[in-house]
Amino acid sequence: MISEKEYRKRKTRLGRKLKPFSVAVLFSAVQKTRSNDTEYPYRQNSNFYYMSGFKEDSAVLIFVKEAKNFKTYLFVAKKDKTQELWHGKRLGVDKAKELFDVDDIFEFDAFNEKFKKNVVGKHHIYYDFGLDYAKVKLLKRSTKNVLSYENIASYIETMRLIKSKSEIKLIKKAISITKKAHHKAMKRAKKSEYEYQLQADIEYVFRKNGAYSDAYTSIVACGNAANTLHYINNNKKLVQGELILIDAGCEYEYYASDITRTIPVNGGYTKAQTEVYEMVLHVQKEIIAMIKPNVFRSALQKKSEELLCQGMVSLGILNGDVKTLIKEKAHKKYYPHGIGHWMGLDVHDECPYKKLNGNEIPLKPGMVMTIEPGIYLDEEDENIPNKYRGIGIRIEDDILVTKEGCENLSSCIAKEIKEITRKSSSNL
Ligand code: GLY
Ligand code: MN
Ligand code: MN
Repeated sequence: MISEKEYRKRKTRLGRKLKPFSVAVLFSAVQKTRSNDTEYPYRQNSNFYYMSGFKEDSAVLIFVKEAKNFKTYLFVAKKDKTQELWHGKRLGVDKAKELFDVDDIFEFDAFNEKFKKNVVGKHHIYYDFGLDYAKVKLLKRSTKNVLSYENIASYIETMRLIKSKSEIKLIKKAISITKKAHHKAMKRAKKSEYEYQLQADIEYVFRKNGAYSDAYTSIVACGNAANTLHYINNNKKLVQGELILIDAGCEYEYYASDITRTIPVNGGYTKAQTEVYEMVLHVQKEIIAMIKPNVFRSALQKKSEELLCQGMVSLGILNGDVKTLIKEKAHKKYYPHGIGHWMGLDVHDECPYKKLNGNEIPLKPGMVMTIEPGIYLDEEDENIPNKYRGIGIRIEDDILVTKEGCENLSSCIAKEIKEITRKSSSNL
C-alpha cells in the first residue's frame, strides 16, 4: 500500500515545481460505455492515481499556487442513493476528508465554479495534454487570458521514473502472482487443448490471488503465432512439439508485472528449439548483467542487437559479417522491437526516455524496466534454415536498477530449459 504520507510528499514535490500564480488540474479517468448501459471495467488514470491515490471516477485534483505557497483541492462524486444502488458505494466528501490529505475536498459538481474562481489572476495553467474530453475543453474556455498552458503529465511522469520502496513492494507482489500463473501454465500445457485454456489458467491464478486485473491482454501464442508480436486471439489448438510464447502479467493494486516465457507444449524442447532458446537466453542474461546506474537504455539496445545478430549468424539464420549485417539492419527482420521499457503503474510506464534537452536519461537506482530480447522466425520465410521456421521466442524479466547494479525481480520464474522442462513434465 502507498501511504497517505507518500501521496502528500508527491503533491509537495509537484507543487514546488509549479510556476508562481498557476493552477494545475488533474482529472480522473472517464468511465467508458461499452454499449447502452453497460460499462467497461473502470481503471483510474495513472497520473491522477499517482498524485491522489483516489480510485473513483468523476474526480478532479487541483493545485492552486500563489507566489510561493500552494493548496491542493480534491473534487469527488457526491453520495447519491440511486447511483449507489446501481453502481456501488461512493466515498463522498465527508469520508474522503478522513482519508485524503489535501487542503479541502468538495463535490465534483462544484468544480466548474471553484475552478473559475481560483483561476482569476493566474498566469499558468497545467493540465494533461494527452486528455481530450469535455472537462478539458471547459477548462480552456474558462482560462482565456493566461500566459501559458503547460503539460502536467510530463512533470508527473518524470517523478514516476524512480520507484519508492512501497511501489517496489507492490511490483514484487504483482510479480509473485504472475510467477504462480506462469508456473501453472508450464504444468498445464501438455494437458491443454487450446491457447485460451492456458490463458484461462493464467488469469484464474491472477484473480484467485487478488490481482483484479491483467496489466495488459495476455498473449498465448503456439508455434508460428508467436511470430505475430501482438497476437491476442489465443484461439488456436496447441500442437505437440511446438513452443508456446506466453506474455502475461497481472496488475496488483495498480502496479504492473510483464513477463514472457516460451515453453514447450509437451514437456520438452526439440534440438532446433533448444538452439534458438539458449541463444536468446544467453543474450538476455548478458544484457541484464550490464544494468547499473548511469548506463543508457540505448547501450542495452545496441548490445542486444549485436549479440542477437551474432547469435543468428552462428545458427545460420543470417549469413555474413555481423558488423555489416548490423549496419544494414538485417537483424531487425527477426528482432524488430526494443530491448525493454519502463514498467510501473502502467506496463509501458509513461515515463520519459529523454530529458527536455533531448539527451537520454541514464539508468538510476529505483527505475524498473523490462529486458525482453526475442527472435521471430516466420514459417514462410524461406531464407531461414528449415528446422528453425515457425519458431518464435521471447524471454522477458522485470529488472530493478539498484545502487550496486540491478535486481532481477522475476528471477523466481523458471526460465532455464531444465527448470521449465521439469515443471512441464510434472503431472497436474
Ligand atoms: N507485454 C507487453 C510487452 O512486453 O511490452
Ligand atoms: Mn514488455
Ligand atoms: Mn511482455
